[in-house]
Amino acid sequence: MRPPPLSSLFRHPPSPLVALESPTLRQAGIHLLVKRDDMLGIGPELALCGNKWRKLQYNLQAARDEGHKTLLTFGGAYSNHIAAVAAAGVAFQFKTIGIIRGEQPAGLNPTLRFAQSCNMGLQFISRQAFRDKGSAESLARLQQQYGSYYLLPEGGTNALALEGCRHIVEEVEQQAGQLPDYWCCSLGTGGTFAGITSALNGRAKALGFSALKSDHLKEEVERLLKPSLASSPLRGDKKGAGTWEINTDFHFGGYAKFEPHLIDFINGFYRQHGIALDPIYTGKLFFGLFYLIEEGYFPKGSTILAVHTGGLQGVAGFNERFGELLRLR
Ligand SMILES: Cc1ncc(COP(=O)(O)O)c(C=O)c1O
Repeated sequence: MRPPPLSSLFRHPPSPLVALESPTLRQAGIHLLVKRDDMLGIGPELALCGNKWRKLQYNLQAARDEGHKTLLTFGGAYSNHIAAVAAAGVAFQFKTIGIIRGEQPAGLNPTLRFAQSCNMGLQFISRQAFRDKGSAESLARLQQQYGSYYLLPEGGTNALALEGCRHIVEEVEQQAGQLPDYWCCSLGTGGTFAGITSALNGRAKALGFSALKSDHLKEEVERLLKPSLASSPLRGDKKGAGTWEINTDFHFGGYAKFEPHLIDFINGFYRQHGIALDPIYTGKLFFGLFYLIEEGYFPKGSTILAVHTGGLQGVAGFNERFGELLRLR
């Protein structure tokens, strides 16, 4: 039987673009638009969603075109990417293998239970082995173990992922009728932000919010942007300089780290706007964004676009681990 076509990933209505209203925004004279990529969803529990939809669409097409039957990828135990790849496997009939960082826990968390329910093969490796996962020896070993596979890097970031994220800009331009002044999203590996920045091509400011504690993301985004800038009109001049920036003030200590006021913000945001945020990426993005808005960082009259990149599958695991802190229903 032929596997289902991937056209649903390419021919879909644009995710909604919604304007937020609040006294803070009115007072600051800011027009805030949210690109609801969290509402894109396909596969079991619609777990192929948000920026994973954008990052995986061309990769899944490449895997299919190259005749691969298996997708192999890497991630942490709560990874949105692992959940998305598992769902993609069911939706498009790929076998999936998830190589998970760290020792196998006694019981699986909701993300891994979901992956397993999608028949993803899970292999746990030590943190040291995980750091070496990209080496030729490690990849060859995996090939021996699993046969031929299409390799999706951790977080799904590669050139094809950037290509998918560029569509966010195209869609918003059409929906809004003009280019917002600021484009904000959360960064983990930097792929989503780099895709958006490359599509903006210096026409508006991209402002990324790091979910990580480390400072390496600026170099990583520079590296990711190189191939696309090489073929863009920005090449050879400095027009792109200063048009993107990464804020590192709102990571709360990094993955799975938080403070009570972040939780209060996420719960309050849900009550006020009816939009659920996750505690790892989008919660920190919107927390930082509203902080900067209140501080007067953005000139009055600015239009800001914030991308809701999804990640809501992680809420169950967060609540299970930390005691039902997030009330998003
Ligand atoms: C929900 C969500 N938002 C944002 C990000 C950051 O995306 P990127 O890794 O492309 O920087 C991720 C994943 O890393 C994510 O899962």
